[in-house]
Amino acid sequence: MTREQAKARIEKLSEELEQHNYKYYVLAEPSISDYEFDILLKELEALEKEYPELRQVDSPALRVGGQITKEFQTVKHRYPMLSLSNTYSEEELDEFDERVKKLLGDEPYEYVCELKYDGVAIGMHYKDGLFVQAVTRGDGVQGDDITTNAKTIRSVPLRLKKKGWPADFEIRGEVFMPRSEFDRINKEKEDAGEALLANPRNSTAGTLKMQDSAVVATRRLDCFLYFVLGENLPFKTHYESLEAARSWGFKVPSYTELVSGIAGVKKFIEKWDAKRRTLDFETDGVVIKVNSYAQQQTLGFTAKSPRWAIAFKYKTERVVTKLLSITYQVGRTGAITPVANLQPVLLAGTTVKRASLHNADIIEKLNVREGDTVYVEKGGEIIPKIIGVDMSKRDLLCQPHKYITQCPECGTELVRDEDEALHYCPNVDGCPPQIVGRIIHFTSRRAMNIESLGGETVDQFFRAGLIKNIADLYDLEKEQLLPLERMAEKSASNIIEGIAQSKKVPFERVLFALGIRHIGETTAKKLALGMKNIDAIMSASKEQLLEVPEIGEIIADSLIEFFGDKRHRDLVNRLREAGLQFELSEEQLASQSDKLGGRSFVVSGVFSRSRDEIKALIEKNGGKNTGSVSGKTAYLVAGDNMGPEKRTKAEKLGIPIISEDDLLKLIESGV
Ligand code: IVH
Repeated sequence: MTREQAKARIEKLSEELEQHNYKYYVLAEPSISDYEFDILLKELEALEKEYPELRQVDSPALRVGGQITKEFQTVKHRYPMLSLSNTYSEEELDEFDERVKKLLGDEPYEYVCELKYDGVAIGMHYKDGLFVQAVTRGDGVQGDDITTNAKTIRSVPLRLKKKGWPADFEIRGEVFMPRSEFDRINKEKEDAGEALLANPRNSTAGTLKMQDSAVVATRRLDCFLYFVLGENLPFKTHYESLEAARSWGFKVPSYTELVSGIAGVKKFIEKWDAKRRTLDFETDGVVIKVNSYAQQQTLGFTAKSPRWAIAFKYKTERVVTKLLSITYQVGRTGAITPVANLQPVLLAGTTVKRASLHNADIIEKLNVREGDTVYVEKGGEIIPKIIGVDMSKRDLLCQPHKYITQCPECGTELVRDEDEALHYCPNVDGCPPQIVGRIIHFTSRRAMNIESLGGETVDQFFRAGLIKNIADLYDLEKEQLLPLERMAEKSASNIIEGIAQSKKVPFERVLFALGIRHIGETTAKKLALGMKNIDAIMSASKEQLLEVPEIGEIIADSLIEFFGDKRHRDLVNRLREAGLQFELSEEQLASQSDKLGGRSFVVSGVFSRSRDEIKALIEKNGGKNTGSVSGKTAYLVAGDNMGPEKRTKAEKLGIPIISEDDLLKLIESGV
């Protein structure tokens, strides 16, 4: 392919991919399969790698992230980011309407009703149809530049469609995490034995401030737009501006209505009160805006908020019920979760019987006791929450709650590390729910994917004494299963066949399936690519593990602890004998280049890209990263502000000191 052809192909692919993105993420009308999309994206990435200078500023490949933001720059807002005055009552809405009417001198006016999206406010700057910058609200005067992370949000257009957009404008909206995405991530965290995200709003804020945009890209954030700002905008009304923004490719929600009169507003509020719970995102109210720009100008602003808009907030539904008992659940990692068993009560359309109490500190803080009358709310979290106790109803004889000291399942004394909120049962190999939980995790879809073997069956096998650990699965024979209750010939064959099939599951998923604490799907992948096989991981020192890009202290410690236990090493050996994959496949190995031929590199200082990226590049091309300069070091890759000791040592040993550019050339030339 000539350079000209590559250029044309890159342009065509970029346009096509963005169009598919738009259809999928903005219109929710996918036009090709994920698989076909990935093939096109891979082709684009390969071409951009070959011709980096041809990469377009709005390349859809940016959506997968990869750039690291060390520190978010503070940026002053061109227009201050004001908030809205809030109200919870219809009377105050009437008062707002009266004020508007009075200030407009009885001329007719309309309201636009929108939902109030509960996420993180963002301002995005577009110049000549291209996305240039995204800034958080901050204190309203200045916020953080989160451009790199915002580019990973698939529904944020990198290049605008059609024509008619102002050459220079800002658009504001709300970044949020869809409920389904929140649930997906928490499921993944649960699988990795990690602390769960608290609620979609906080998770959005946390995600937007992550340093690694590649991680941001894996969390599928979304963005609704609701406000266009700029000089001499070509509109007369807010509603027009929203419709125009939609035609330029922005995700402007369709839950927006033009109404005349406060009665129309109230109808909108009432309609969405129940309906909002069926949406895949959190809404905590309705925003009401005067439609005409001229009238908005007449109404003006107070110091804090516009006089032409108001937010009506739905009251969080709260009910009173009785706390019957506090019981405890033991998870796969041994974590103990206290659960409140409630007198069943109707809340936000569902009957609530249980609420999570999270940990001992929360119980103490709430000062909640069995038999208490408690207030229960359903907020952003899917699981309802106890938010307080009605002390006036407390029985005089009721005793403070004593948190358990022994495992409710196996009786072992519980432990609690100093900075940990949770109690754990340390009886890893003898506590039934932990054993069964680990086996269920092992067989789950994203791990070994043994579909024919569900959770209940695993439990049944365990209780029948057929399996005590994951390796026992591979010794099972059909004849052993047949005598079990509800076990037909066909299902037994399917189970044995499913287990046999799982031997083909690639290394990174086997690594995830082992259920090592803090090793989720993404980490397992990074680890597999970086270390290539299980023996390297099992025998690695902490320093060696830390050299793998994106593996930090917590993960390294967890791996050392896990494989420091002989029982775990034995388990791996049994699984290996059974035929499971414990190294990268030939294909995976081949896709990594060997241009650096196993030579050792020391990377030190500050570079144009992050150090982790440089290290990943070295590893991907067959080099090794080490922490300190020694006789075995092939090159010292030096950035700005590198420590003087490394330089002196390298000079003394005659080791070449090269720059970031030199490294790239070395990789290109492969010498
Ligand atoms: S308009 C000057 N519209 O609520 C008016 N805000 O308390 C600017 N929000 O900071 C805001 N949904 O984060 C507007 N449909 C909507 C909204 C909305 C959510 C948030 C936004 C803002 C806060 C105001």
